[in-house]
Amino acid sequence: MTDPQLVLTERVQQALANAFGAEYADADPLIRPSQFADFQANVAMSLGKRLRRAPREVAEAISAQMSDFPGTVEVSGPGFLNITLDSSWIAGEAGRMLADPRAGVGQSTPPQRIVIDYSAPNAAKEMHVGHLRTTIVGDAMARTLEHLGHTVIRQNHLGDWGTPFGMLIEHLLDIGEDAAVAQLEAGASTEYYQAARAKFEGDETFKTRSRVRVTTLQSGDPETMRLWHVFMEATIRYFNKLYDMLGVTLTDADIAGESMYNPMLEKTCDDLQAMGVAVISEGALCLFPPGFTGSDDKPLPLIIRKSDGGYGYASTDMAAIRYRVDDLKADRILYVVGADQALHFRMVFAAAEQAGWLPDTVSAEHIQIGMMLGKDGKRFKTRSGASVKLMDLLHEAVDRATAAIDDRGYDETTKAEIAHGVGMGAVKYADLSVSHDSEYVFDFDRMLGFTGNTGPYMQYATARIRSIFRRGEIEAAAVTGPILLGEEAERALALHLLSFGSVVEQVGSLIEPHRLCAYLFEIASLFSTFYEQCPVLKEGVDAETRASRLALCALTLRVIETGLDLLGVPVPDRM
Ligand code: ARG
Repeated sequence: MTDPQLVLTERVQQALANAFGAEYADADPLIRPSQFADFQANVAMSLGKRLRRAPREVAEAISAQMSDFPGTVEVSGPGFLNITLDSSWIAGEAGRMLADPRAGVGQSTPPQRIVIDYSAPNAAKEMHVGHLRTTIVGDAMARTLEHLGHTVIRQNHLGDWGTPFGMLIEHLLDIGEDAAVAQLEAGASTEYYQAARAKFEGDETFKTRSRVRVTTLQSGDPETMRLWHVFMEATIRYFNKLYDMLGVTLTDADIAGESMYNPMLEKTCDDLQAMGVAVISEGALCLFPPGFTGSDDKPLPLIIRKSDGGYGYASTDMAAIRYRVDDLKADRILYVVGADQALHFRMVFAAAEQAGWLPDTVSAEHIQIGMMLGKDGKRFKTRSGASVKLMDLLHEAVDRATAAIDDRGYDETTKAEIAHGVGMGAVKYADLSVSHDSEYVFDFDRMLGFTGNTGPYMQYATARIRSIFRRGEIEAAAVTGPILLGEEAERALALHLLSFGSVVEQVGSLIEPHRLCAYLFEIASLFSTFYEQCPVLKEGVDAETRASRLALCALTLRVIETGLDLLGVPVPDRM
């Protein structure tokens, strides 16, 4: 453990126990970054009341127990403890971190089994920007939790089943399989859906055919199933093109769409009904998890079988949660899904608890994804009002990135590589750097900016450090220090680097990737100051200082590269 804030917490707790007795050993020392020192501990202020002593006196007593501490502790004002760490301690810890192949990131023992439900586009509609965000945030969390040593089970809960598939299959027969496949593979599923829908509304025989097709699909008729597969495979090829383009880790093996639960739905409903958790209300089989009421104060139903016998979204989610707990043996289930589904998930979780399908030992969490807005502050759309085709959006990001680096003299291949990395990095980082539950404005100009907390800025910061090693003809991985902290800018950078492990751990427990972005941005800024003030390769820098500064560069590089990798943000070699 190298995070100074954690080290200090432990050390002050020891002092508390020594000064006031063992019962104080787990009081929160309230360590915060300080303007006047590295940190301050505010515990004396609250403890004073409990001990009926002046806070300043309490602070003195704590500080008296910290004489062997590698730093200075000063009592200030009414009873704050200002704590400054010895530079030699910081340097030693930074050196240890440099030698650690995991750069101070711990590994959870025992590992948890974590199911992450993310991406989950609907096959009957175009994958839209909202799914872009659940895909990117979910993937960053999958990478981060895996790095923390957990067993991550990705579940792509595709919307691949339901009544619309009747008309979608009939439309496929009308236009011919080849034409349908070509259209779907190209990502024109919205047009496809709309064409089918228009016929459904305007053509009685088509409507009848579609209804019959729903029944044959549900009964598992082989030819209908074949057609459904043709439709789904083409659609999935399009999703995969997007995943490839984005560098998302989802594969076909992670697909666990709604259709997968189809064979379980009847038993799901029967079991819930048999244990009395599900009851018939107005002809439908409903769950009434406690604590949910509608505007009329009547209990709110979660319908798991419609009065016509059909199953829906809630039925599937009840089957899915049981499968994830019982079969996948999840310790933790994360649902990375739009914030507008919050009520649905609260009800599903409550009902699952009621049924005994979600024991206390398993946590189910809805990671709410805020809506993506256009520059006008409304739901993101094209000018014509249609939803935006994702592939076009991603290509536009790359085109704009190409324009931004056009004058840098790269050959075409290198330029294309960099532009791809910058474009995708910009889109992904923009999604990750704001808290996942807040709405945010999709703005190419801002996300592609080379300044501020953006993907390109972080990529540029990385490329800059790499170029130091390239110019010095030094292998960053071979640098060993030792680290010596003379200048303030060196010290500030090193001190901050020490928190990397605990930031990653926090991101994993709180599911807040934006904290990692904020941390990396801070590191990049501290590095900038360091690099302005502390020459590394310049002539006249003595060998020891040069070795130490190279070590700081190498450690910064490792932290930023690892961090961006956990976020799934690509890092072009140069920029
Ligand atoms: N397909 C759904 C949508 O587009 C998301 C599915 C999320 N996962 C789940 N288990 N309900 O909104």
